[in-house]
Amino acid sequence: MGRPIAGSLGPVQGLSLAPARPLSPVRRRAPGASVNVVDVGRRFEGATGPVDAIAHVHLSVAPGEFCVIVGPSGCGKTTLLRIVAGLEAATSGRVDVSGDAGRPRNAMVFQGRSVFPWLTVRQNVGYGLKLRGVPRRERERRADALLATVGLARFARSYPHQLSEGMRQRVAIARALAVDPDLLLMDEPFGALDEQTRLLLQEELLRIWENTGTTVLFVTHSIDEAMVLADRIVVMGAQPGTVKAVLPVPFSRPRALTDVRSDAAFAPLFAQIWGMLREEVLASRADIRQVRA
Ligand SMILES: Nc1ncnc2c1ncn2[C@@H]1O[C@H](COP(=O)(O)OP(=O)(O)OP(=O)(O)O)[C@@H](O)[C@H]1O
Ligand SMILES: [Mg+2]
Repeated sequence: MGRPIAGSLGPVQGLSLAPARPLSPVRRRAPGASVNVVDVGRRFEGATGPVDAIAHVHLSVAPGEFCVIVGPSGCGKTTLLRIVAGLEAATSGRVDVSGDAGRPRNAMVFQGRSVFPWLTVRQNVGYGLKLRGVPRRERERRADALLATVGLARFARSYPHQLSEGMRQRVAIARALAVDPDLLLMDEPFGALDEQTRLLLQEELLRIWENTGTTVLFVTHSIDEAMVLADRIVVMGAQPGTVKAVLPVPFSRPRALTDVRSDAAFAPLFAQIWGMLREEVLASRADIRQVRA
């Protein structure tokens, strides 16, 4: 049976936080949490009967690894991330998340809907730090540094409704990074962003990840995004979602995104991943046709 995941106190609108412990500097280089998913399944009650969202999922993520999950829509990527975050219980199997210093600190970034409308941008970014008892000055210093990183320094005093969707998403990303998480769970965090912002944030995320040692589990629909970011890419199959393949990404670190895209290994790896995904996407659509028939 699934069980609550150590390190999660539950959701705080897209952010789950472990109990307070002394803040370490952003550049800590300590290894992040490790994640072990063992034979995990999740069954939901759907409108037409039970739905196995995922089944027999096995996945190990090493401390400090950047692991990216791709898979067809509806194959259970969000479900898996929510189980790892402790926001959802598994129906079968187990998940272990462990850190080097006791209970690991998780932060999760969803697509959309993760900022508090009644708080300013700066207060949103500092929210997790406030929960952990960090004094206001330090919170604001940290929040302002992150807002500069995500290109929102001028909007610190704005409220979310005064921002665009992409800007709000950048606030959510800054808020997750502010708590210096041991495990960063990101569910299509750049999906709603324009191309230029997405490229800039991919670079920023890589830079921050390289400097902090946090473990990242990242979901995307973009094969290109998976390839530029990941150490390993997990390809999930159509419903019920299972791990179809785990592919190591050969590009060296630190990565310059333009170098990765012009690397001779880029096109063959892209073709390999798309070949697998294409089959799964077609399989998932065939299922839909059968349901409709
Ligand atoms: N709370 C729920 N109740 C019933 N069914 C659910 C629930 N949550 C998810 N599902 C079902 O589980 C399956 C997997 O959903 P999930 O959101 O994890 O997929 P996904 O891979 O994240 O899809 P997408 O790429 O579109 O975001 C879907 O068939 C979905 O309908
Ligand atoms: Mg999803």
